[in-house]
Amino acid sequence: MSLAYPLTSLPPLSLYIHIPWCVKKCPYCDFNSHSARGEIPEQRYVEALSRDLESALPLIWGRSIHSIFFGGGTPSLFSATAIDQILAMVRSLTRLEFFAEVTLEANPGTVEAARFREYKAAGINRLSLGVQSFNAGHLQALGRIHDAHEAHDAVAIAADIFDNYNLDLMYALPQQTLREANLDLTAALSYRPPHLSCYHLTLEPNTPFHSQPPDLPDDDLSADMQIMIEDRLALAGYQHYETSAFAQPRLQARHNLNYWQFGDYLGIGAGAHSKLSFHDRVIRQMRHKHPRDYMEQALAGDPVQTENTVAAAARGFEFMMNALRLTDGFDTALFSERTGLPITAIQSQLEQAEQRGLLVRDHLRIAPTPLGQRFLNDLLGLFLPAA
Ligand SMILES: C[S@@+](CC[C@H](N)C(=O)[O-])C[C@H]1O[C@@H](n2cnc3c(N)ncnc32)[C@H](O)[C@@H]1O
Ligand code: SF4
Repeated sequence: MSLAYPLTSLPPLSLYIHIPWCVKKCPYCDFNSHSARGEIPEQRYVEALSRDLESALPLIWGRSIHSIFFGGGTPSLFSATAIDQILAMVRSLTRLEFFAEVTLEANPGTVEAARFREYKAAGINRLSLGVQSFNAGHLQALGRIHDAHEAHDAVAIAADIFDNYNLDLMYALPQQTLREANLDLTAALSYRPPHLSCYHLTLEPNTPFHSQPPDLPDDDLSADMQIMIEDRLALAGYQHYETSAFAQPRLQARHNLNYWQFGDYLGIGAGAHSKLSFHDRVIRQMRHKHPRDYMEQALAGDPVQTENTVAAAARGFEFMMNALRLTDGFDTALFSERTGLPITAIQSQLEQAEQRGLLVRDHLRIAPTPLGQRFLNDLLGLFLPAA
């Protein structure tokens, strides 16, 4: 289906590169990650990524890459040579912006200073470290491969090598008290990280935690944890700019911001998702999910498993699903710029959300209220396209 109003400009384009292996699968995780049994077929995967990007080039002709994110899985299982090869391949096939943010996700159980220096030399300029907690008991309950000492060592190494880095923390962990959540935050803040992502642990379908739920804090306690985190981080000078993201001034994650502002991304690698705009349509793609199938198909020049055009009504909802995660909301003009729809397409939903105190707006900006942020799913529900 073509756009009601053709896009007059294309959004920034990010590149996501999925690395689908982990040392061991964590019992709460539903990401496309697989236990690395035996040796990882690193060179074959690098070759598959290269063929994948080559085959996607006609979809992004003439566009420059604004940010790169190596996500997983555990990208830090890959050698610095492999990361260097991938980045060299990206630079040779595309136009990478000079100040592009290039992030690599790392697991604290896989951090070695020498290799991390080599990642930096290869072009990684931001690290995202999956610390989750600094508490030995909670790390064990989460089935993590790292302990509390390794968590601290990994952050110290990240801070030493990278000016720009993020720490992932999770809260509402099995049997966690408010005091323990507070101590985790104190430990994280002792490093003054440029960026913190604080995720409420969720029970994802098809995970061991879902089928055999651990003893989790109740809703009141986990809400208290969330309030404590928001209050302390505000006091410490962090801007709470997205549901789970907190940054020191000017250190917001550019790659993630592009997702939340309904920008474009090409995802390469096993199971990676893409969203790409053209003047007359917006498409989504998904790569073959299992690493074995993906490598086989990508090397044969056919990495994409599914592709579909996003229907007009769905574009409005998808935009809101992303942009309403931003605590400052979005510029009203961005809605039409990114979706090709007039803002009047969601007029009645905006009015309803405003009446219920979930959203504020003027002719320049639309933003969720604190109530809307807390009850984001209720707010988003208003924008669901009619079935
Ligand atoms: C792909 S993982 C990150 C990197 C690396 N694999 C690791 O775990 O160290 C991205 C982040 O999502 C968060 N996460 C994963 N599963 C989650 C869940 N069920 N609930 C809340 N956060 C989760 C974790 O904080 C994790 O660091
Ligand atoms: S290390 Fe990260 S991606 Fe891998 S299983 Fe654990 S949470 Fe998931």
